[in-house]
Amino acid sequence: MATKFFLLAFSALWASRALASDPGQLQDFCVADRTSQVFVNGFACKDPKTVVVEDFLFSGLHMAGNMSNKQGSAVSAVNVAHIPGLNTLGISLARVDYAPYGQNPPHIHPRASEI
Ligand SMILES: *[C@@H]1O[C@H](CO)[C@@H](O)[C@H](O)[C@H]1NC(C)=O
Repeated sequence: MATKFFLLAFSALWASRALASDPGQLQDFCVADRTSQVFVNGFACKDPKTVVVEDFLFSGLHMAGNMSNKQGSAVSAVNVAHIPGLNTLGISLARVDYAPYGQNPPHIHPRASEI
C-alpha cells in the first residue's frame, strides 16, 4: 500500500515537471518590432535577419534618477520599450533612487516580474 502511494506521488511529481517546461521552443528570441501594425499580446517579432546586438543592450542604469518630486524617489525602468530583445520573456528591471525620507508608493505588477 505504501509502495503504491509513493509510486503514485512520484508519478504525479514527475508528470507535473514534464508539463512545466517547453523542451522545444519555437524560437530563440522575438525582438520587438515596435513599428509593426500587428496587434498581439506584446509586440510582433522583428525579422530575425534585421536583429542587431543593440536590440539586447541598455546603458544608463548607472545614473541616478531625478528625485525632486513629491515621492522623493525616481524609478528608472528598463523593459521591452528599452531592450527590444526582452519581448515575450516577461522580464523587466528598474533602478529606484530614494532621496532622504523618499518613498516608492505601494504598487503591484499583475502578471509580470521585475528585478
Ligand atoms: C529634476 O526635477 C525638477 C522638478 O521637475 C526640475 O525642476 C529639475 O530641473 C530636475 N533636475 C534635473 C537635473 O533634471
